[in-house]
Amino acid sequence: MRCAVFASGNGSNFQALAQAFSKGQEGIEIVFLFSDQAGAYALERAQDLGIKTYQFSPQDFPSRQAYEEALLQICQEEAIELVVLAGYMRVLHAPLLQAYPQAIINIHPSLLPAFPGRHGIREAYEAGVEQTGVTVHYVDAGIDSGEIIRQASLAIRPGETLADLEARIHDLEHQVYPAVIRQLKGRENA
Ligand code: GRF
Repeated sequence: MRCAVFASGNGSNFQALAQAFSKGQEGIEIVFLFSDQAGAYALERAQDLGIKTYQFSPQDFPSRQAYEEALLQICQEEAIELVVLAGYMRVLHAPLLQAYPQAIINIHPSLLPAFPGRHGIREAYEAGVEQTGVTVHYVDAGIDSGEIIRQASLAIRPGETLADLEARIHDLEHQVYPAVIRQLKGRENA
């Protein structure tokens, strides 16, 4: 299964995926990393891991539509079967969503539908909930709103700092995201 990862920033999930599937023996390959941000650390990680990168931004195109069509074109040229969003900070629109029905996934650091948006970890922490976690879901035209594929939860520890919670959430993400891709690959074989 040929996968593309889209990331706008740090890229720790991208790295976890690239390392999980580095040998390709599970029939899963991270073919390239795309970033809409020229300075994204994810691009450096890809270079260090020997994974192909593409980088361009909506500002490089006359319209958002043209930007997404260019993204779609590289996915099609690379025969991508699954698009994996990992900290990609943009909403997707028709060109990609129509071309990849049920084949674009995202990871979010809360138990959706609770705490969608950019600050899911902090908002859960500040709300004082006992449990939070991570969600992997199919991507639709909304923000963190598509059909849920898998969730994993963890208990917020008494006295835990936000930084500690963030670290534990990211560790959980790095386990759950490869597991979900294996699950989707298994479904393809079924
Ligand atoms: C992750 O917490 C992910 O759930 C959210 O954005 C963050 C990206 O982190 N969508 P990284 O760039 O993979 O380190």
